[in-house]
Amino acid sequence: MKIVCLAGGISSERDVSLVTGKNVYEALRRRGHEVILLDVYLGTDKGVEEAWNADIDWAGSVGAISAQNPDIAAVKALRTDGDKNFFGPNVIEICHSADVVFMCLHGAMGEDGKIQAFFDLSGIKYTGTDYCSSAICMNKSLAKELLAYNGVSVPKGIHVYKGDEITNTVGLPCVIKACNGGSSIGVTIARTEEEFAEGIRCAFELDNEAVIEEYIKGREFSVCVLEGKALPIIEIEPLQGFYDYKNKYQSGSCKETCPAELDDILTRKMQHFAEEGFKALRLRGYARLDFLMKEDGTMYCLEANTLPGMTPTSLVPQEAAAIGIGFDELCEKIVETAL
Ligand SMILES: Nc1ncnc2c1ncn2[C@@H]1O[C@H](COP(=O)(O)OP(=O)(O)O)[C@@H](O)[C@H]1O
Ligand SMILES: [Mg+2]
Repeated sequence: MKIVCLAGGISSERDVSLVTGKNVYEALRRRGHEVILLDVYLGTDKGVEEAWNADIDWAGSVGAISAQNPDIAAVKALRTDGDKNFFGPNVIEICHSADVVFMCLHGAMGEDGKIQAFFDLSGIKYTGTDYCSSAICMNKSLAKELLAYNGVSVPKGIHVYKGDEITNTVGLPCVIKACNGGSSIGVTIARTEEEFAEGIRCAFELDNEAVIEEYIKGREFSVCVLEGKALPIIEIEPLQGFYDYKNKYQSGSCKETCPAELDDILTRKMQHFAEEGFKALRLRGYARLDFLMKEDGTMYCLEANTLPGMTPTSLVPQEAAAIGIGFDELCEKIVETAL
């Protein structure tokens, strides 16, 4: 099959996306497919015919994820064609010439449904969920409302707009999040009024909407749902602080246990919530839902990630491995769900 791995872009999760792209690209090549790895924003100077030349190693230029989020202004400066279209040179043409596009994008423009909508209109097949569910899940507040309405419990909280007069009716400690963020960028755990003010400032630097929610003290988990069915649960324990950007992507900074050490009843309950959440959010293909659980076993769904990280050590591949599905096979399964 001819597959384009689409990665990069200009979201705050650009670097993570490139690493996902490189890993999926290499996995699908090992499975014998013809694969191109493309930066959706920077594109390539190669036209369609030249791009499918099997001798090109597309993974060569991709680096590791640094501890800080990427410098997007520097990336924008690399675009030499005027930047009128979000898609870089030759990207649309090459995606058109593929059997399917493997979506390796994370964050806005990729995970938010806009590219999916464009691909639908253009007749381009892609992995993962459609434009509508992508857009819903990109907005943490909308997603929480839909989850709660369908019986999946979420932390209590409020939704605020930039410019609103904000009174913290949630109390302290609380968590402030940019509504359309990801990778914990724009997430603050506030324990004092000063931290609250700083958290609001930080969220509105990234977004016009924010959620403020009760702080849940407890254990953290994530559950991948693949074609409607939950995989084994993974537990995440940061060695220091919470599950922030650095702890997410610097190896060795978290202890990850899969399958999580939970009794059968709690396991089934969380997997059930994940599957119900998947349905409630109209998801298709695969997604990963994040959970927190208090000591008494009360659990809360935080959000659904529609294009979760895909490196061999990412959470979803670890969950698949727990039922004997290796990384390469998982990538191929995801392709199959798209066709
Ligand atoms: N209500 C909460 N209580 C305690 N910790 C939270 C809460 N919400 C989020 N967190 C912490 O912040 C991290 C990021 O939040 P999340 O809602 O998953 O956003 P994203 O992963 O998209 O940035 C979580 O993995 C968790 O460690
Ligand atoms: Mg999360």
